[in-house]
Amino acid sequence: MIDHPAFTVEPWAVSEERLNLNVLAQSESVFALSNGHIGLRGNLDEGEPFGLPGTYLNGFYETRPLPYAEAGYGYPEDGQTVVNATNGKLIRLLVDDEPFDIRYGELLGHTRSLDLRDGVLRRHVRWRSPSGREVEITSTRLVSFVQRSVAAIRYEIKVCDDEPLRIVAQSELVANEPNAMKTRDPRAAAALEAPLEAEEQEVNNLRVVLVHRTHKSKLRMAAGMDHVVEKVDGIVAGAEAGHDLGRVWLTAELQPGKTLCFTKFLAYGWSSRRSLPSVRDQVDAAVSSAKRTGWDRLAEQQREYLDGFWEHADVEIDGDGELQQAVRFALFHTLQAGARAERRAIPAKGLTGPGYDGHAFWDTETFVLPLLTYTQPHAAADALRWRHATLGLALERAKTLELKGAAFPWRTIRGQECSAYWPAGTAGFHVNADIADAVIRYVRATDDEEFEATTGLELLVHTARLWRSLGHHDHEGRFHIDGVTGPDEYSAVADDNVYTNLMAEQNLRHAALVASKHVDHARALGVDDEEIAAWRDAASAIHIPYDERLRVHPQAEGFTHHRTFEFNGIQYPLLLHVPYFRLYSTQVVKQADLVLALYMRGNQFSAEQKARDFAYYEPITVRDSSLSACAQAVIAAEVGHLDLAYDYFGEAARMDLGDLMDNTRDGLHIASLAGSWIAAVAGFGGMRDFGGDLSFRPRLPNALSRLEFRVRYRNRSIRVRVRHKDVTYELVDGEPLEIVHYDETLTIDGPVTREWHVEDPGPEPKQPPGREPRHRRVRG
Ligand code: BGC
Repeated sequence: MIDHPAFTVEPWAVSEERLNLNVLAQSESVFALSNGHIGLRGNLDEGEPFGLPGTYLNGFYETRPLPYAEAGYGYPEDGQTVVNATNGKLIRLLVDDEPFDIRYGELLGHTRSLDLRDGVLRRHVRWRSPSGREVEITSTRLVSFVQRSVAAIRYEIKVCDDEPLRIVAQSELVANEPNAMKTRDPRAAAALEAPLEAEEQEVNNLRVVLVHRTHKSKLRMAAGMDHVVEKVDGIVAGAEAGHDLGRVWLTAELQPGKTLCFTKFLAYGWSSRRSLPSVRDQVDAAVSSAKRTGWDRLAEQQREYLDGFWEHADVEIDGDGELQQAVRFALFHTLQAGARAERRAIPAKGLTGPGYDGHAFWDTETFVLPLLTYTQPHAAADALRWRHATLGLALERAKTLELKGAAFPWRTIRGQECSAYWPAGTAGFHVNADIADAVIRYVRATDDEEFEATTGLELLVHTARLWRSLGHHDHEGRFHIDGVTGPDEYSAVADDNVYTNLMAEQNLRHAALVASKHVDHARALGVDDEEIAAWRDAASAIHIPYDERLRVHPQAEGFTHHRTFEFNGIQYPLLLHVPYFRLYSTQVVKQADLVLALYMRGNQFSAEQKARDFAYYEPITVRDSSLSACAQAVIAAEVGHLDLAYDYFGEAARMDLGDLMDNTRDGLHIASLAGSWIAAVAGFGGMRDFGGDLSFRPRLPNALSRLEFRVRYRNRSIRVRVRHKDVTYELVDGEPLEIVHYDETLTIDGPVTREWHVEDPGPEPKQPPGREPRHRRVRG
């Protein structure tokens, strides 16, 4: 964990006032810059020391054989692992004759700051070399939201003592960097040694381009850099390139008080199909364009882009400065993960680290897309188009599994199933209904008919076919889905998982609805009336197990009959300390599962059921997944445990600023960060969008005096301001909109204010020992 206060509390930045080498890898993730297309970890400019070097290109991976102790039918043979691509962040420096390295000499000051409005990482260093020379280095780094293949670094060296100083700056591109990653944690990545094979190097003045290819996946990439140097007397510059190294050097003798200042423009291109000249020239062109734009304009564009984002997405909080910062940090990183991913995946770690091998999971559709749908809808549509682009592979996978329709992968980069563990992999079929859910939400929030009739319909139809073939009607006609794994990975291959069944029910019903609406498109997919009727029958007969004795929903058939889990002497996360047999055969829950169903399919449960179910699952949910806290926050808020909801909200938002899972070094937990928006908007805003009208049941914990958020909905932008005892809804732009406040329908045009109140929910449930969320609540 990162001890507080590693980062100072401020509203629009995350800053570090001194360099702490013990948390270097964590801070590299926190300070990572990305636009969803390319991603640079926050490694120090000079490359060393580092925790984990990282430069990622979305969809750029190497394949590797998946090892199995015992073979089984349908197991995927190859995995995909994100590649640490050519590092263009490097700027090495020689001060007189000594390499600038903060581990030597004396570090007189070292600050870094991630500016959430300017979208840049700033660094300021004051250093005295071992022989006593003093310099100041200022660097500013950005990954452009506007020019998606471009990054840039502004670098400045100043002489701080009163003698002239010889400076050599070496700006580099380095391929096949050595990696420091060694761990037994299954959540980390399979490190690849030297994954890149050199193909071509090009040097032209201060521009260098290196082209490489992966050995097995045969993906080609090019990295290019060019430089603009501010005039300094007597400066000499040159460039050279070898297989895995491109270097531009600048050397000068600087007079006291003088600076050497330059901008490094970087560009990346990659492809599975295009020829070497095509990828190389693309990068050459992107560098030229960035250079023509120039640093100042790139920085301005970045600010304009982010101003636009915050205008529609900001969440303001009064009463907890740390949480305000954490939520903005969370929104910023979710944007970075998804903004320009376009038709590529949004991985669980975004492009901030190699964790989970760079794979995308259901995290995208269930946790990230809600935020994007209501703030950046085009990015949500693009993410769904990416899923759609992998439909062919999902159809094939279903065939292999002897199923109909499409079986989307549990984890992947390119679309192929990459999970080597069936029970917590392929059996997690709910991902298919999660994709359908994201389609339904997107269409509801945008009225994008064109998307609905094409991409949306196809995704709904093929996933509905999967459910229809995966499930079966029993002799009484009830529809069951057996042998699947729900979100809780500590219960695997179970029958009638409530979350899965309810999500599948929605999937089947909506496929029928949308197919009946877009008849021609549906017919072209081979859908006929009989098939639509079969979907409707399955949906209306879906079996939802219920334990009459306890009056709660078992998360799957029989779950509440399992033994209780003995928590004495237990260590977390359980997956690293307890045999799976024990996890699978007892009542212990890794992450919100039934509780997630209470949120996602909230209109299928009564208020009383929600309260009873929540109280039942709290003491057995260990939150070994970062995806849990936000869902628990939403339901805690809904059933009235506002302080508990607040604690969970804090946990979701501070997941990485506090390194709460102890693995921020491998990359950020994007779903949890996006989930903090869900905790704010669906939890304390009480926003639901179950069809019909957009509804709100706002509420606030004592510690917060104001929560304000914006959402985009059907071409409108609305602002919701929750204070103690009242809420104001305001239309910021677009036509008047009908919403529901508690049980009252309101038309919002100008601001409308209403009161809210929450019934006393009774005693707060307890969590498993050692798993209480860290308290943020006001005591007493
Ligand atoms: C969770 C999954 C999640 C994955 C990636 C696992 O620990 O159990 O639900 O998709 O992490 O975040």
